[in-house]
Amino acid sequence: MDRQDVHALGRHIATFAGRAPSVHNTQPWHFSLDGHLLHVYANPARRLLTSDPDGREMLISCGAAIRFAELVAEQYVDRVEVTYFPNQVRRLHLATIELGGTVVRPATPATGVEETIGARWSDRRPFDAPDRAAVADQLALVSKQYRRCSATIAGPDTVALIAAMGSQHHLASRYDANYRHELRWWAAGRAYSDGISPERRPVDPDIAPPTGRFFPAGTLKTGDVEDKAELGLITSPVDEPLDWVHSGRLLADVLLSATASGLHSCTLTHFLEPVPGESDSPRMRGANHSAVQAAVRIGRATGPELPSPTRRLSVDSIFEIW
Ligand SMILES: Cc1cc2nc3c(=O)[nH]c(=O)nc-3n(C[C@H](O)[C@H](O)[C@H](O)COP(=O)(O)O)c2cc1C
Repeated sequence: MDRQDVHALGRHIATFAGRAPSVHNTQPWHFSLDGHLLHVYANPARRLLTSDPDGREMLISCGAAIRFAELVAEQYVDRVEVTYFPNQVRRLHLATIELGGTVVRPATPATGVEETIGARWSDRRPFDAPDRAAVADQLALVSKQYRRCSATIAGPDTVALIAAMGSQHHLASRYDANYRHELRWWAAGRAYSDGISPERRPVDPDIAPPTGRFFPAGTLKTGDVEDKAELGLITSPVDEPLDWVHSGRLLADVLLSATASGLHSCTLTHFLEPVPGESDSPRMRGANHSAVQAAVRIGRATGPELPSPTRRLSVDSIFEIW
């Protein structure tokens, strides 16, 4: 295995993994290449202290990045083996991805997986209805390879509950200084390469989808269209860090399968976050008392594709070679 080829591949994988979705576009990950092992770490400096006190959303975000990394790695090596939490002591060391066998140096054009990764983005506009049965089938299909979590389509009662929990969260948090400070830090229109920039935030938050998070107004035109999105629900019977990482991997598959079918999507977690003023907000439970990890709005776009992808940190700031 040529060292230069492995270095080029490691950097290529980190570039695409860095396109994963993350809560508030925090991009809380770091990749280190050591020989043919690509180590993935969570970066706690980028955790949301108020909204994500346990680091659950940070690990879901990192799980999505790990899944993107695996999918891209599979295009270029014979064998990809992932060990989760390889170090019992260093709990921020989330995974080691072994790039085994022959390595093919990445070249243009992009592979199909890379094109799908590049085409996905979090669309916060209302959606037209997708084919509900087809979405349910896709969720069942991608869930098949997971034992610790699954994705199912939400029924009308669950959708109504999520909208109600989201609005309760909004009402309780709008005057909470810590939440407001955190939200404005990550979504206040700074021209940086992280956070949620204005062109990704609805111009009129009041006509944004009722299940969506309430962001400060941006420039994304929504149109006064009724939202007919379907909601996918990611749940796990156990609610521990390993389940959060796998839920993030499954989230990545759910989003990519939607993109590959020409649908738009947006992850939602605000309704699961601690409600300010409530010292012990109960955790939302799905079927069989499993923990709800995230919801995903899925539907047909009601506006044009946006011209540029959502911004990201440079690959040099998230990737190093040991
Ligand atoms: C764990 C997690 C939680 C998220 N929660 C929300 C949310 O509550 N509302 C929302 O609009 N977007 C949410 N997102 C989407 C992110 O804001 C989005 O992925 C990020 O801004 C990067 O943009 P992109 O998905 O367009 O690449 C979440 C993403 C992840 C991975």
